[in-house]
Amino acid sequence: PRVAVIVVAAGSGTRLGAGPKAFVGLDEHTILRHALARVFEAAPAQVVIVAPSGLEGSALTDAIEAAGERRDLVTVVTGGDSRQASVAAGIRALWADVDHVLVHDAARCLTPPEVFDRVIAALELGHAGAVPVLPVIDTIKRVEGDLIVGVVDRSELAAAQTPQGFRRDILETAYRAATAEFTDDAALVSDAGHTVLAVAGDARAFKVTTPADLERARGLVAAAPV
Ligand code: C5P
Repeated sequence: PRVAVIVVAAGSGTRLGAGPKAFVGLDEHTILRHALARVFEAAPAQVVIVAPSGLEGSALTDAIEAAGERRDLVTVVTGGDSRQASVAAGIRALWADVDHVLVHDAARCLTPPEVFDRVIAALELGHAGAVPVLPVIDTIKRVEGDLIVGVVDRSELAAAQTPQGFRRDILETAYRAATAEFTDDAALVSDAGHTVLAVAGDARAFKVTTPADLERARGLVAAAPV
């Protein structure tokens, strides 16, 4: 099966406060460039980068650097106002012969190739969808205002990461049918009635969201340059 990876990089990076997040530097390379280096290790048949309006050219430059000889596999499209709108723009750019689609946050720029491999393997086994997850390590409280009103059994919980992989037809149909906003693609596909498999995530697949996350990512890259 031919695998496409949609890399969503069209966020504004409001919480980071350093401009569009995917274009912030970790070292001499941007967050997007680091994400793409790992995406290409998964040997995709197509890579769709969803860029913020006006930064399509910068995204293409990063992509060409990361792709090397495989630059023909790269498509750049313009994102939307929400993550969901950005993924939808990426889906519209998929080539006709793609069978499986991985949707990946550029902000999870240090996700190791093994995570991509596990998601792809689950799809090859015939699952409709697969999501990398980590166990929840904190004790989770239910709150009302500033009062703690209960605990949630954390053994029932998992933290979802990306890349999230889906059969192409299922992802397309679910996106076409979606009438609500979902926070990830697995929620949207589950809502459409499909079963999604959980595979092992990785601590390195954390999402760069806050300045502290950026420091962590920069520290990891400085310790083990890629
Ligand atoms: O904001 P957050 O970090 O949760 O976004 C997750 C991913 O979705 C990021 O890689 C971001 O660039 C992308 N995104 C997007 N279009 C938006 C909002 C977020 O591509 N409108």
